[in-house]
Amino acid sequence: MTDPPYFLDGLDADWKKGKRGKRGTGSVGGLPIGMKFDSEQGKRLQAFLEPVFEQLIRILKPGGFMLVFSAPRLYHRMAIAAEDCRFEIRDQYIWQFTQRAQFKAFGMTHFLKKRVDISDQERKRLTEEMDGRKTPQLRPQFESILCAQKPREGTFVDNWRRHRTGLIDSRQSLTGNVPSTVMSAEKPTKDRYNCHLTPKPLKICEHLIKVFSCEGQTILDPFLGSGTTCLAAQRTNRFGIGIEINPDYVAIAEKRLEIEPRKSTRAAYEEFSKTSEFYLEDRKWIHA
Ligand SMILES: C[S@@+](CC[C@H](N)C(=O)[O-])C[C@H]1O[C@@H](n2cnc3c(N)ncnc32)[C@H](O)[C@@H]1O
Repeated sequence: MTDPPYFLDGLDADWKKGKRGKRGTGSVGGLPIGMKFDSEQGKRLQAFLEPVFEQLIRILKPGGFMLVFSAPRLYHRMAIAAEDCRFEIRDQYIWQFTQRAQFKAFGMTHFLKKRVDISDQERKRLTEEMDGRKTPQLRPQFESILCAQKPREGTFVDNWRRHRTGLIDSRQSLTGNVPSTVMSAEKPTKDRYNCHLTPKPLKICEHLIKVFSCEGQTILDPFLGSGTTCLAAQRTNRFGIGIEINPDYVAIAEKRLEIEPRKSTRAAYEEFSKTSEFYLEDRKWIHA
């Protein structure tokens, strides 16, 4: 389960210091964050993700799931990258939120004022005619989540017997009903330990982990950020492995994992030891 850089507005492969990158992207200059449009962004995202997905399909168990957050505008490129790496695309889910969803569309008055080639009379007419007209961005209230699967070995039953993967846990529920493709949770607010730019809601990460894996299994996040995936894995009795390029975010992730008591390591270990010849002692893997 992961949430890679979105490749919008410089949140791309250059993301190191928790600040948006400065490199020229060919996008429209001088516009506020979130309003730049660059047709190369999607292609760059796809090229960035392909080698990552190659590694993920290599290490996932057959039938294992990959869940990836993305901006809706570039979702298709991410899905193509996954498909080209031999993942089966199972579905697209929606993380829906209602608050802190900034309406970023803007009107033309400012631009009209700057146009020296337009007469005052025509400017006045256009200003009236374009009243309420804005750039084409509705208020964003969701993000996409790709659900992809490594092909199974044999039937669902054969694959389950070999790997305990490939089937969802339909008893898990966010709303009292069966797990559905739309999941609602507000965007997390910055807290004492977490100043990451884009943390994901723990509630949704925990829910997805419970639906798509079993206790004692291992969840990998190659773009860990502030540690949400590992914290969700810890809370749901799974093991978590995170990779993060920015040491400041690694420190936040470690702090978040540390302050929450690991009540269930023993239970997770017992589950895990049924299927593995390794065990964990003092945070080190020991060969049995
Ligand atoms: C969208 S954020 C993940 C946020 C995370 N889901 C959370 O809840 O905090 C993407 C993360 O990927 C990291 N990142 C970017 N390029 C990376 C790379 N090449 N290797 C590892 N991490 C990288 C960024 O530093 C950033 O923290």
